[in-house]
Amino acid sequence: MLTRSRRTRGVAAAIAVLALGLTACSSDSGSESKETSPAGGDVTSGNIKVGFSQLGAESGWRTANTESVKASLTAENGIDLTFSDAQQKQENQIKALRDFIDQGVDVIAFSPVVETGWDEVLQEIKDAEIPVVLVDRTVDTHVVDPYVTWIGADFEAEGITAGEWVVENYPDAKIFELQGTLGSGAQVDREAGFDATVGESHILGKASGNFTRAEGKAAMEAALQAYPDMNLLFAHNDDMGLGAIEAIEAAGKVPGKDIIIVTVDGVRDGLQALVDKKFNYVVECNPVFGDQILDAITKAHNGEQQPRKTIVLDQAFDQTITQAVVDARLY
Ligand code: AHR
Repeated sequence: MLTRSRRTRGVAAAIAVLALGLTACSSDSGSESKETSPAGGDVTSGNIKVGFSQLGAESGWRTANTESVKASLTAENGIDLTFSDAQQKQENQIKALRDFIDQGVDVIAFSPVVETGWDEVLQEIKDAEIPVVLVDRTVDTHVVDPYVTWIGADFEAEGITAGEWVVENYPDAKIFELQGTLGSGAQVDREAGFDATVGESHILGKASGNFTRAEGKAAMEAALQAYPDMNLLFAHNDDMGLGAIEAIEAAGKVPGKDIIIVTVDGVRDGLQALVDKKFNYVVECNPVFGDQILDAITKAHNGEQQPRKTIVLDQAFDQTITQAVVDARLY
């Protein structure tokens, strides 16, 4: 069934991977790119043919994740990669998965934009006997054994960590919650973990900012009007929190003081906002796990045993973070 109740928590295990600049083209129905070796030669014969469907490019986290995937799934590492960007649309992602079946890839990897709605295409992939490596987000499906393994963060634990900091530091907080893409594993589980920890009675309202800066800003503008008593924002990612800063300042309030801001991700811009005292607490969600995806794909292709799930470990940062830490950040 689905991968949902994940409570493993721990310290950071950041994996340093250098990013390669690779080409992509774009259209409304998503974009697909064929990755080539930097030398331009054909080193792909005998390599594992992989179709990777990325859900979009909505956030700094996603950009870093894509760079990590492309840096690891290279011809030199034995992979012949077709990469597709679904632009946050499930229909684009389903089309890409069907294209991968038609292309006869050896392994499919994808990061599902939402949890439900995959039954049909997952069954088609299964019928084609193509192993699936699930990346980052989870699926909720009736298909039996729809994927070989899943690698991602414990979103529920991230929400709990954020909630525990709020309970400890602002026990009387009046909270507005900026949700990620509705129906995504990251939204569903972060919200469940956070809300259960702080208690529903502390949450004045919620709205989705779809994990983007622009939509986070717009949702925060409306929330500032609707909930004038709000004094704490929990944003499901840094980008929405950064958009909210703009809305808060435009409303004549001071982010980090008048409105305490707690976010998830820990991309460089988010941690800079922490150094600048505009964010108050950031729970990390580490996007750099391309090497683990490579390992899972290789094992899936070879039919080797592997764990059903692998949790990418996170840490958390408060305002004691230094500029040196931010400057050393890989993403
Ligand atoms: O699924 C991971 C989430 O997706 C990240 O927290 C967010 O920034 C991204 O859009």
